[in-house]
Amino acid sequence: MLIKKPGDIKSSEITDKKVYLNRRLFMRGAVLAASTVATGFLYRRLLAPEIDLPTPTGKAAPGSQVAPKQWGLPGEEATPYQDITHYNNFYEFGTDKYSPARYAQKLVTRPWTVSVEGLVNKPKVFDLDELTRLFTPEDRVYRHRCVEGWSMVIPWLGFPLAELLKLVEPQGSAQYVVFETANDPKGRGIPQTDALTWPYVEGLRLDEALNPLAILSTGIYGEALLPQNGAPVRLVVPWKYGFKSIKSVVRIKLVERMPTTTWVAEVPDVYGFYSNVNPDVDVLRAQSTEQRIGDWGRRKTQPFNGYAEQVAHLYDGMDLSYYH
Ligand code: MTE
Repeated sequence: MLIKKPGDIKSSEITDKKVYLNRRLFMRGAVLAASTVATGFLYRRLLAPEIDLPTPTGKAAPGSQVAPKQWGLPGEEATPYQDITHYNNFYEFGTDKYSPARYAQKLVTRPWTVSVEGLVNKPKVFDLDELTRLFTPEDRVYRHRCVEGWSMVIPWLGFPLAELLKLVEPQGSAQYVVFETANDPKGRGIPQTDALTWPYVEGLRLDEALNPLAILSTGIYGEALLPQNGAPVRLVVPWKYGFKSIKSVVRIKLVERMPTTTWVAEVPDVYGFYSNVNPDVDVLRAQSTEQRIGDWGRRKTQPFNGYAEQVAHLYDGMDLSYYH
């Protein structure tokens, strides 16, 4: 059992005092502490197949003569499809790592629309097929770093968020972009667990959202996204902790003021709006190292998750230990 009973957990395992003063937050702290332990020692036990998976077309099927496509990053192998699709965080379907693969299969992903609205000249509701017709998804192999201390290398399929935003023409007053996950228990089969307050909400500053690294993803390893990974369309912001990469997006809204995002609202003393990967700032736990899923031993975490060259300029003049 991965979720420890409150009585089993030492207060030292939970970073922030307020987290254990409030019972609901305490339970969440317990889940996260347990996740971290699981990441180091037990994750292999979680990866037993729960569902039948399609063979990703980009990889050589067993016995096939086709050479596998090179999906990794220089010196960093791509994480196996099995792990990417069975070791997940999707709290709408449960707080442990294997619940999303097991329970998110009921997520109804068709028909699906994404409304892009707010401070834009041309608000529009996009049907999913229209989105992928307008913006051809391309392969993007990115590091994926969770604040719980684990990481992967994921071959996403996706298109730049900037392309979509430019199409709707942001107005001069737009400064932030808010993203919302579907929250529709009856229509979409999303259970209303009490893990968080729904819908899951995330946000970016507009210039972050326009950075070419930020994508809307529709697939992994050349296959359509599976429900547990945020089907049919999710955000991927590789220089930030994974919780910024919101899944199963239905609404994108441009606004003037910094939005209150889900995790900032839940545990404001722990999480910041920016949440850039930063080995020098302890968030939830020490962030200087990480466990790459599939590897033994921990590796050093890189500032901005290794993407400093592309994104560090966005934060010129900001004290990143304060604006974390
Ligand atoms: N999006 C929604 N709607 N609900 C969630 O619980 N979890 C976040 C993020 N997006 C989450 C979410 C967290 S904490 C992480 S680390 C990543 O999704 C995990 O993505 P993965 O399961 O595809 O690795």
